[in-house]
Amino acid sequence: MIEIDAVSKRYPDGTTAVDRLTLEIPDRSITVLVGPSGCGKTTTLRMINRMIEPTDGRILLDGQDIRERPVNALRRSMGYVIQHAGLFPHRTIVENIGTVPRLLGWDRQRSRSRALELMERVGLDQSLAKRYPYQLSGGQQQRVGVARALAADPPVLLMDEPFSAVDPIVRKGLQDELLRIQADLGKTIVFVTHDIDEAIKLGDMVAVLREGGYLAQYAPPNQLLSAPADEFVEDFLGADRGIRHLSFFDASGLELTSEPIVAEDATPEQIRALSARTAPQTPYLLVTDTEGRPLGWSRAADLAAGADAERLPYGHAFHLGRDSLRAALDSAVLSPTGWAVAVDDEGRAAGVAAQETIAEAIRTAHAARSVVTDKVVTGQAGTEKVVTGQAGTGKVVTDEVAMDKGGRS
Ligand SMILES: Nc1ncnc2c1ncn2[C@@H]1O[C@H](COP(=O)(O)OP(=O)(O)OP(=O)(O)O)[C@@H](O)[C@H]1O
Ligand SMILES: [Mg+2]
Repeated sequence: MIEIDAVSKRYPDGTTAVDRLTLEIPDRSITVLVGPSGCGKTTTLRMINRMIEPTDGRILLDGQDIRERPVNALRRSMGYVIQHAGLFPHRTIVENIGTVPRLLGWDRQRSRSRALELMERVGLDQSLAKRYPYQLSGGQQQRVGVARALAADPPVLLMDEPFSAVDPIVRKGLQDELLRIQADLGKTIVFVTHDIDEAIKLGDMVAVLREGGYLAQYAPPNQLLSAPADEFVEDFLGADRGIRHLSFFDASGLELTSEPIVAEDATPEQIRALSARTAPQTPYLLVTDTEGRPLGWSRAADLAAGADAERLPYGHAFHLGRDSLRAALDSAVLSPTGWAVAVDDEGRAAGVAAQETIAEAIRTAHAARSVVTDKVVTGQAGTEKVVTGQAGTGKVVTDEVAMDKGGRS
């Protein structure tokens, strides 16, 4: 654990960048520092690897004051990733990634094979190994930055807005990759961003800072969205906080019906019989192929008439079991009929749900607080821990419980 204990940083010109910040950063999880520009995120991060020394307070790593460790050893135990990757322009990709291993005295061959292994891990094709950074896209450079930080397998990763300079699609890819890597490696990651969506997606714990390095709230994302501590946090979370919170509610409990679903080879009699039952709820039927995969919505009357019935696109289906109520609601909103389509692993229509049904599920979920759970930190050998914030402090409470992992879709 990294403990930031009443740490302040005042710059010589009198700026208080960080003011008595207390924050417990749990092991093997992603802790995000988020907040507006100038609120002290970078300063805090750099105090952890002693690129900046605090004016007051102390920082402990596994119970030991970091000032008691040789600074080189400390930094080697902490990979550091920054915006624009900060790669050495005159070194190839493998050489960049192998920088720290070489410093640690590994021979060229071993550093190189480690670098190639890491390229694969971060999703980089090995054909890029001999290129120079300028011959890579921004997203690829960021991947190299992550690989370089991981090269000597440090237990801690410090990441300062690593994905801010790339476009949203590349950024999403990088975020997904980081989550995959983290699921495998279980590093202690401190991640700085000013993007609240990124914080919610990546963070096991999110520290919302405001100007002056003042801790506004420290909580798992789910808790942040459901109970922002004050107006500042609420503003920072943005207007669609409620919608985003739905990512934490599992859609598997949603009551689906398969009544308005019909295969494309159904006879007019079958269609008429079906629509007699479904007409009170909807004039439409979801037409599937003979395998049960959705094709689109048609008016039951047109289908029964046997004419070429107009087929409306069904928008985008949500996955039963994997997706959240947010995805289900999105699916209903995008559907021209207002009905969401759920599919199974094989892409077959598992059922449909009307907007009102989803609204009802949302009300029930809120009432029962039957959240998917805060993201679970997986410890070694299958021990699972749930980390939550302690209201009003930077401290965390860790409970070892057996829970299903929740996805956020
Ligand atoms: N060397 C310095 N001397 C004086 N003030 C500084 C120095 N470095 C940073 N600051 C100030 O400290 C405050 C916090 O800066 P910091 O870089 O930690 O913010 P940040 O949260 O990382 O912002 P951003 O999101 O823009 O990167 C700012 O007001 C900044 O101007
Ligand atoms: Mg910064």
